[in-house]
Amino acid sequence: MANIDQTFAATQAPPSLRRDAVSAWWRTGLATRLKRRRIEIMGRILGIDFFDGPALSICDVGCGSGKDFIRPLAGTPHRLTGVDVVDVDLQQSNFQFIQSDAARIDVPDGLYDLAVSFGVLEHIEPMEHLCEVISEIRRISKRFAVVVPCVSTRLEPHVLKFGWPLQPARERIDINYLSDQAWLKFAGFSEARTHRFDYVPGLITNLMIVG
Ligand SMILES: C[S@@+](CC[C@H](N)C(=O)[O-])C[C@H]1O[C@@H](n2cnc3c(N)ncnc32)[C@H](O)[C@@H]1O
Repeated sequence: MANIDQTFAATQAPPSLRRDAVSAWWRTGLATRLKRRRIEIMGRILGIDFFDGPALSICDVGCGSGKDFIRPLAGTPHRLTGVDVVDVDLQQSNFQFIQSDAARIDVPDGLYDLAVSFGVLEHIEPMEHLCEVISEIRRISKRFAVVVPCVSTRLEPHVLKFGWPLQPARERIDINYLSDQAWLKFAGFSEARTHRFDYVPGLITNLMIVG
């Protein structure tokens, strides 16, 4: 495992260069196709055709720049809302933004047909805060689908290391790396189910928590 890791050039680079390399990769056409494919996988699990199906009201919790969900769904009839603590400055005709901590979103219960979230929950701490965010995702939506890192991933996408989940913990990283079963222990996810799927085939496995 160490050899594979050592040959992965980006991991040898200083963190700033590594970040630049990762940012450049996510702007490529292949990355765009992988993001669309991930939304299609989510749709198959939920029984929703996001690209050709009827309009839904959907809230993207921790929407960030919108690259994972909002922007790929530009031009669809969906009514998209993004929630983020940071002002994301994203203009899109079917999109509105709520700047808020996702632990307290000022909307009625069950307002959205669906809440989604991509790559957010692994960053939220402390655990008490994470519990609140998960309960809020459950509260605001009729259904939800949340994507988090999976412990079986070959390439860990945050630290860019192969076999990272299997390596002895040498350094602290601020990511919630929980087993599939552990995610289902949160009160908001108590009736959810998990699905593992390839985000980048052969390299990055994600976990989807659906309820
Ligand atoms: C890795 S980014 C997610 C990227 C996003 N899915 C996209 O398409 O760009 C994590 C996002 O979660 C947001 N975030 C973190 N904690 C949050 C919280 N408590 N409430 C709302 N947003 C939060 C961050 O500001 C950041 O934009």
